[in-house]
Amino acid sequence: KEAKLWGGRFEDSVTAAVEKFTESISFDKALYKHDIMGSRAHASMLARQGLITDDDRDEILGGLDAIEGQIERGEFVWRTDREDVHMNIEAALTDLVGEPAKKLHTARSRNDQVCTDFRLWCRDSVDLIVSRIRNLQVALVNLALKNESLIVPGYTHMQRAQPVLLPHLLLAYVEQLERDALRLLDCRTRINFCPLGACALAGTGLPIDRFMTSEALGFTAPMRNSIDAVSDRDFVLEFLSANSITAIHLSRLGEEWVLWASEEFGFITPSDSVSTGSSIMPQKKNPDPMELVRGKSARVIGDLVTLLVLCKGLPHAYNRDLQEDKEPVFDSVKAIMGMLEVSAEFADNITFNQERIRAALPAGHLDATTLADYLVKKGIPFRTSHDIVGRSVGFCVSRNCRLEDLSLDELRSISPTFDKDVYEFLGVEKSIKNFSSYGSTGSECVSNQLDYWVAKLELSRK
Ligand code: ARG
Repeated sequence: KEAKLWGGRFEDSVTAAVEKFTESISFDKALYKHDIMGSRAHASMLARQGLITDDDRDEILGGLDAIEGQIERGEFVWRTDREDVHMNIEAALTDLVGEPAKKLHTARSRNDQVCTDFRLWCRDSVDLIVSRIRNLQVALVNLALKNESLIVPGYTHMQRAQPVLLPHLLLAYVEQLERDALRLLDCRTRINFCPLGACALAGTGLPIDRFMTSEALGFTAPMRNSIDAVSDRDFVLEFLSANSITAIHLSRLGEEWVLWASEEFGFITPSDSVSTGSSIMPQKKNPDPMELVRGKSARVIGDLVTLLVLCKGLPHAYNRDLQEDKEPVFDSVKAIMGMLEVSAEFADNITFNQERIRAALPAGHLDATTLADYLVKKGIPFRTSHDIVGRSVGFCVSRNCRLEDLSLDELRSISPTFDKDVYEFLGVEKSIKNFSSYGSTGSECVSNQLDYWVAKLELSRK
């Protein structure tokens, strides 16, 4: 049995159960690339500072290249008895190049090593997620462009409220996703500080150059305080919070599209390529991908909560509890990447059922608020016009008709202010033409919004 890298003071070896319980190699091998990057930078710094020779450094760098190749070709054997990714790579390097490898851990601890690796990994993940967010934004804007003049019912309380242009609603998601991306990029600026050289917790008396390693790894600067550097995981809490907010946005999108695909709404038809069937009911075609987008948001939120609870009782500095920080983060990133990818594919593969939507528009008096605004333009105080239109709607309800079906005499019997130009404001098509405030659903306003996103996402508008 191989001696542990930390085995000097130990007489007995750990039990099999403890070894199995404390290992992290089964999941932290995902950090191998970043661990090797960190070791390369560290070895180069040690050599420049005269702590190891240039020959040692070259042996180390050559060995790390070989190990990286083995890992990538699937030839590397990950060993549970070597505990984690850091010791697996260091021990394999020692097997490969001998003595020089034993100098690599000079002025380094796994405590600063692991959070350096993890910060690098999170930084890359942020970039991947942001690019998937961009893809989904593109898919939504394309969908808006395909249905530029389609009017749909807008809802509040899930009750029919006012007519809106479909692109207006689609661009609402695009705006939300934009903030999600900006939140991630903002969080990235705080991820991007370097703990390497903090060592176990107190730094070192050896003449290292933390600025050199920080710069080599593309960090903004080394972290100022070694205790803080090894013991806080607020960068992950922020990252998972940002993911959770994105997940909630995607879940709302999923909820809406699942509803719209129902027989009751019938607003969209997803293509077969993004639908699945039932093992018992032959007729079924289900929007499962978007249901799972909604469902997976639960795990993204759960991952954040795991991390929050993990960190809340930890005294300074490093505690082994922190090994539990990785799996929730890996899980969160995997889930959010999938959710973004599938939402974009779904957006690319739905058609809006224009006829069905058009047929549904007359119900629900979507033009009532526009009618109230009409009376305001005639000088009636809004509270009074609200009451007049409310009574007009009540009249329609008793007659089972639309506002636009009322004759001028009928309208005038409710308020003499109604004039024949009132019909320019009734019906969803005419109603929607009235919207002109900045950010509203009027076609000019929505067209401006579309122009903004087409330019920003570098799309073209035919
Ligand atoms: N596998 C550990 C982790 O993920 C690495 C750091 C362990 N440090 C220690 N002194 N045991 O946190």
